[in-house]
Amino acid sequence: MFATESSDVKNTTHRCKKICIGLLSLLFIAGAYTIFFIHMRGYTDPKFSVNGAYLNRFNNYTEINHNLPYNLVLNITLTNPNKKVDFEWSDTQVIAYYQNERFGVVTLIDRWKSIHQDPKNTTIFQNVLIQGWKPLLFEEHVLPNVTHHYRIDLVIAFHDKIHQSFAEVTCNLTVPLNFNVTSCDGFNTTKCSYIQFKLEHNLAPKN
Ligand SMILES: *[C@@H]1O[C@H](CO)[C@@H](O)[C@H](O)[C@H]1NC(C)=O
Ligand SMILES: *[C@@H]1O[C@H](CO)[C@@H](O)[C@H](O)[C@H]1NC(C)=O
Ligand SMILES: *[C@@H]1O[C@H](CO)[C@@H](O)[C@H](O)[C@H]1NC(C)=O
Ligand SMILES: *[C@@H]1O[C@H](CO)[C@@H](O)[C@H](O)[C@H]1NC(C)=O
Ligand SMILES: *[C@@H]1O[C@H](CO)[C@@H](O)[C@H](O)[C@H]1NC(C)=O
Ligand SMILES: *[C@@H]1O[C@H](CO)[C@@H](O)[C@H](O)[C@H]1NC(C)=O
Ligand SMILES: *[C@@H]1O[C@H](CO)[C@@H](O)[C@H](O)[C@H]1NC(C)=O
Repeated sequence: MFATESSDVKNTTHRCKKICIGLLSLLFIAGAYTIFFIHMRGYTDPKFSVNGAYLNRFNNYTEINHNLPYNLVLNITLTNPNKKVDFEWSDTQVIAYYQNERFGVVTLIDRWKSIHQDPKNTTIFQNVLIQGWKPLLFEEHVLPNVTHHYRIDLVIAFHDKIHQSFAEVTCNLTVPLNFNVTSCDGFNTTKCSYIQFKLEHNLAPKN
């Protein structure tokens, strides 16, 4: 068919079609690649920091009954640094450790609820309370240093529904012991960092 009707016009249109399809698919691939690349490049991990913290009860641990009463108050800030990415936070917990022993846990957002976070927005969890008491054995004495500070480590485990991601950050804090509930000086804002390894902890509250 083509051989007999090989007019110049037909040949050119046929060749043009081929070239056009080729160009179009190239463009498509390039476009998809660019979108994918921008998406990957444009995504920055959310940032956690602890802006305030004090302990109301901690100094009452006795070597006799090995019972640790605790009352830890925290101001936690969660920032979305992205210009175009939204988050939908759910199932978020804060776990507190002292001398590598987990002593308390609090749920910031339970798994049936969620908090939407717009781009470039900041969510503040104010006066989050971790309190209770727990029988625990410590290798070292439970004592503050001379300036009444304790080293407390937090692990924040969180879930983002939009990107179906789970992640954990750790915040190594130096927390002042407060005899008077109101003031909270003596604490420096502390950034939390992502943990690569999986910590041995059980998210289900246990007593
Ligand atoms: C948290 O922030 C509020 C408001 O700034 C402040 O009143 C409160 O004392 C802070 N709490 C802690 C634990 O720093
Ligand atoms: C320690 O325990 C004693 C007796 O239970 C109580 O009177 C005291 O107020 C506690 N101190 C602190 C700092 O919690
Ligand atoms: C952050 O989110 C809150 C609640 O959705 C909203 O009221 C506030 O205007 C937002 N702020 C910015 C800077 O987008
Ligand atoms: C107690 O800890 C705080 C916070 O790290 C520090 O600034 C202070 O120097 C420490 N005090 C002593 C006596 O180690
Ligand atoms: C920070 O906290 C994590 C979690 O408890 C702990 O594994 C790590 O050793 C701490 N880092 C420092 C420098 O204390
Ligand atoms: C607690 O507050 C009272 C009255 O405001 C003050 O006299 C006392 O020194 C404070 N104690 C500490 C440990 O800051
Ligand atoms: C806060 O930071 C200052 C300056 O880096 C430091 O001297 C001080 O010990 C820190 N305080 C605490 C409680 O970590």
